[in-house]
Amino acid sequence: MINIAVCGANGKMGQEVIKTIKTADDMTLVARIDINNGQFATIKDAKDSVNIDILVDFTQPQSIYENALYCLNNRINIVIGTTGLSDTQIEELKKLSNSTKTGCFIAPNFSTGAVLMMKFAQIAAKYFNNAEIIELHHNQKKDAPSGTAVKTAALMAEVNESFTTGNCSETETIKGARGANSYNNIHIHSVRMPGFMASQEVIFGSNGQTLKIRHDSSDRECYMPGVMLAIRYVSEHKNFVYGLDNIL
Ligand SMILES: NC(=O)c1ccc[n+]([C@@H]2O[C@H](COP(=O)([O-])OP(=O)(O)OC[C@H]3O[C@@H](n4cnc5c(N)ncnc54)[C@H](O)[C@@H]3O)[C@@H](O)[C@H]2O)c1
Repeated sequence: MINIAVCGANGKMGQEVIKTIKTADDMTLVARIDINNGQFATIKDAKDSVNIDILVDFTQPQSIYENALYCLNNRINIVIGTTGLSDTQIEELKKLSNSTKTGCFIAPNFSTGAVLMMKFAQIAAKYFNNAEIIELHHNQKKDAPSGTAVKTAALMAEVNESFTTGNCSETETIKGARGANSYNNIHIHSVRMPGFMASQEVIFGSNGQTLKIRHDSSDRECYMPGVMLAIRYVSEHKNFVYGLDNIL
């Protein structure tokens, strides 16, 4: 049996994870951690009371780095769905996971469709020198751009040097009109409004053609197979992984 603690247990994702864990024959839920009315308010409180094999974190961008540091320093394996970690923080967690030999699995997106969308975008990126990303989320999402958009841009940047090629010199008459300029000039636009859960479109363009690759999530259930896969992976391999694509 894998003893699981869920941090952010009362949130939208935390509740979905708990529902899924309860149906798994090889997992036991040992702690529901949440600063808002959880069985335990902190990871330390839970650790002092129960034996945790893996902690699954779906909290918030402001908390995730501290939570991850605490887990790794205390040899608690961690599966991270929370977005908002910077490249520097991810690199630090990688070092700590390796030095403590504690599992750390970070996935900005656990849905298989989104992972495929990223993969397809990376393939297309070789053939287009112009691309922009539009990500669309519900309006309770705290960070922008989404972790998925950042990861997509990073993957595309691995295979092409610039994605704003041949554009004339641009002036923003309203600041932010061209979105955020990320890796290798990939512009990312973040939409926040009710009606969306999580969607992303990657648009490629060249003379005479455009290509759009789009993924839409309509129910949080879509993340659960990926979360279960990550938990089972971490229970066997105590290493660092960034991205679900690495274990599919
Ligand atoms: N990786 C993925 O596939 C994926 C999918 C959806 C959402 N997310 C990310 O997961 C995170 C959570 O999303 P959500 O929609 O469930 O948010 P939410 O606001 O519904 O839930 C967050 C929960 O965490 C609790 N919390 C906050 N800080 C805490 C802390 N330090 N310790 C314990 N509990 C704490 C809150 O009280 C709340 O109950 C966000 O960063 C979101 O972007 C990732």
